Amino acid sequence: MAETRESGLPKGFRSAEQGWPELHRIPHPPHRVPLLGDVLGADRRRPVQDSMRYARELGPIFRRRAFGKEFVFVWGARLAADIADEARFAKHVGLGIANLRPIAGDGLFTAYNHEPNWQLAHDVLAPGFSREAMETYHGMMLAVTGRLTDHWDRETAAGRTVDAPGDMTKLTLETIARTGFGHDFGSFERDRPHPFVSAMVGTLTYAQRLNSVPGPLAPLLLRTAARRNAADMAYLDRTVDGLVADRSRSGGGSGDLLDRMLETAHPATGERLSAENVRKQVITFLVAGHETTSGALSFALYYLARHPEIAARARAEVDRVWGGTAQPGYEQVAKLRYVRRVLDETLRLWPTAPAFAREARQDTVLAGEHPMRRGAWALVLTPMLHREPAVWGEDAERFDPDRFDAKAVRARPPHTFKPFGTGARACIGRQFALHEATLVLGLLLRRYDLGIDPGYRLAVTERLTLMPDGLRLRLDRRPTPASTPAVPVTVPDGADGPTGCPVHRTDD
Ligand code: HEM
Repeated sequence: MAETRESGLPKGFRSAEQGWPELHRIPHPPHRVPLLGDVLGADRRRPVQDSMRYARELGPIFRRRAFGKEFVFVWGARLAADIADEARFAKHVGLGIANLRPIAGDGLFTAYNHEPNWQLAHDVLAPGFSREAMETYHGMMLAVTGRLTDHWDRETAAGRTVDAPGDMTKLTLETIARTGFGHDFGSFERDRPHPFVSAMVGTLTYAQRLNSVPGPLAPLLLRTAARRNAADMAYLDRTVDGLVADRSRSGGGSGDLLDRMLETAHPATGERLSAENVRKQVITFLVAGHETTSGALSFALYYLARHPEIAARARAEVDRVWGGTAQPGYEQVAKLRYVRRVLDETLRLWPTAPAFAREARQDTVLAGEHPMRRGAWALVLTPMLHREPAVWGEDAERFDPDRFDAKAVRARPPHTFKPFGTGARACIGRQFALHEATLVLGLLLRRYDLGIDPGYRLAVTERLTLMPDGLRLRLDRRPTPASTPAVPVTVPDGADGPTGCPVHRTDD
């Protein structure tokens, strides 16, 4: 196995036998098939939900094997808290994420920890997610939501139901494209998804499929899919190159992410991102910046439609805090405390990026029980961590936003809610996603009553991220609120967490 010169760690897939000396103590599914592994009864299209099923049977740490690749999952609260220790563990780029390297390279999401472009891009781009930057995105977020509600008004007037996940994907793609790159994909003017979305879904699905076929046979079994994937990747590259060329021609935007990528030098070293790296970052942000938020909004709309009493409480808050203000201001979004709890509770049950991988920086013992060699890794299965009965109670499957009121949050142990990952490689777009999703939910709740077919049963599709399948909503326009000013609300410091910040907590 090759060694990377920079880190000294083995490169490529590291099967668990290499890193876990006492692997035999970790349970695996019964009926293991020689050579093939734990394939009997496995659902290749829903690997996360499959792992959730195994987690319930096998307990807080377990392993799965497929085609010679063995990997360890953890979801028990004690194990997850220990593996969050940044001094002993770091992000592991493996499996699904490594499969995205051909398209996203050493972009922020897929970069190996030792790659110099990670720190460079992180330092250059982080100010693009500061409070000041977020304030400049707010108006654009409002404008894009206006395009969604125009579309939904027309559908509602025509007596049609709406495709919630499809339209949330249009909304979040337009939002990141507009705020980050000054670009308009025209998604709401199209009947079918923009080809960028189809190509992106194609590459994500392909990356997931690569994990479910035996490595040496992949070129044969996935020949047609690989050809399609190459075409999808070429399309993504072309789109991004066009976007960068437009910006270079027009000579600068409004200080958005693309301007930062193209023009900002590192504050300490003066270094800049290379043209090739900019391409990888643009793809990274266009993909990471919309797919997960779209899923979060779609699941939230599902729960709101399913629980009219929760929707009524959230709507009452919007009416109270925003009054009849047509365009709520930036500050007024964070004041929607209950709407934000609805989102948190949604991300608890369906964290739309459902797992993240951690590797040992040195030989260590996980939670005092499981020895790991340097470089050994495990996947944290967040939907199960977020259902751990010892933390969330025996009714953990129940949707209850009050689990996120300030007192309940303070009473919980740290590292038990991780929809945005953990540590230095946690989500850079967390504030962005939460601001966007809270704003959009507030605007939609105020404008519509949400109805759902009583026969609809939540089904979840997987393409590395999670999304409700076939979710259609029936909307009723509510009367437009009289144009009254928003009620000023005083929010006590620290109401949302020990840091006093509505987004960041000290346990990250
Ligand atoms: C609800 C929405 C979102 C969820 C659930 C989510 C979740 C995550 C998670 C779990 C990670 C860590 C992955 C790992 O450890 O391997 C991550 C990283 C990342 N996310 Fe998000 N994300 C969301 C929205 C966004 C948005 C809106 C953006 C950009 C505007 C974004 C950009 C990124 C990037 C660039 C990284 C890599 C950060 C690094 O390694 O330095 N995400 N996200």
